Amino acid sequence: MRLFLAPMEGVVDHHMRRILTQIGGIDMCVTEFIRITSHVLPTRVYHKYCPELPTAPANKGNQNIGALSPVKVQLLGSNADMLAENAVKVCELGASGIDLNFGCPAKTVNKSNGGACLLDHTALLHEIVSSVRNAVPANIPVSAKIRLGYNDRNTYLDNAKAIADAGANELCVHARSKADGYKPPAYWRYIADIKNALTIPVIANGEIWAQADFVACKEQSLCNDFMLGRGLLSKPDLALQIKHHVNGTPYTPMPWHEVQSHVRTFFDVTCDSYPKKHMGNRLKQWLFYLKREYPEAHVLFENIKREKTEETLRAALAVNVS
Ligand SMILES: Cc1cc2nc3c(=O)[nH]c(=O)nc-3n(C[C@H](O)[C@H](O)[C@H](O)COP(=O)(O)O)c2cc1C
Repeated sequence: MRLFLAPMEGVVDHHMRRILTQIGGIDMCVTEFIRITSHVLPTRVYHKYCPELPTAPANKGNQNIGALSPVKVQLLGSNADMLAENAVKVCELGASGIDLNFGCPAKTVNKSNGGACLLDHTALLHEIVSSVRNAVPANIPVSAKIRLGYNDRNTYLDNAKAIADAGANELCVHARSKADGYKPPAYWRYIADIKNALTIPVIANGEIWAQADFVACKEQSLCNDFMLGRGLLSKPDLALQIKHHVNGTPYTPMPWHEVQSHVRTFFDVTCDSYPKKHMGNRLKQWLFYLKREYPEAHVLFENIKREKTEETLRAALAVNVS
């Protein structure tokens, strides 16, 4: 069984990947999506989104940067040739895998023909995956991430078959349509149809917030691999909890004081990474998810939600919330 940390644009950057993979249980990460339009992006863009790439300056000299597990670089777009050219470049920069985003529901992205809107164009999905697969070295895995459909949940089997037929090495399925948005439930049973139809690994994703959700998702999706997104942000040791459950070993969930120490580290390391005008935004986003699980995070969130400077945020974070 493998557990993936879900790509989450604006939330899961390399700092978050490092913290969560250090906590443990995560086998593979995926970068936030990188949009490809009409040209090959400069190297610095790839190094920014994925400083884990061995060619990235941040990675030189063995600095402790980014995830402790391999990271795939996720590309989003509809121009098959451009996606292939960019994928080749990312491989030259040392990526451990390429993931193609066919699930993003954002209006701006869909309007420019990227993300989930491609789920209505099965032939184009095939063309994109096939172009990327044929362009990049055979030893670099190419995967795709889909939803069950765009307006409804009808296209998933055709799309999954097309993607596998085009040579994808694995497929991640977020068990909802674009129209379903992020509204529970996730329709894990649909993934079983895909799993039964394909021979490549299928990764189940959506609404796994706790060990019990994992058990239900496994039963319904028939998958052996899972991707965790918001669940890992609200329970940073969720992957560990699941691994211990599967191995039948005892485990005590992470107490708040440990989480709080990770939150402080996260603030320290993100402070210089983003423009001052956005100071604290990433921290607030993480607390927003953590407060679902930890009442102390709720208190901390309330304490800092209006703070905007490094000094005031740091002062609020220094207080031990219990
Ligand atoms: C804020 C946010 C940003 C996301 N960004 C991406 C992204 O860049 N690429 C992608 O494939 N999916 C993205 N997703 C979808 C997640 O990867 C995942 O499929 C979804 O959250 C369902 O999984 P979960 O219930 O475990 O969170 C994003 C989701 C959220 C909430």
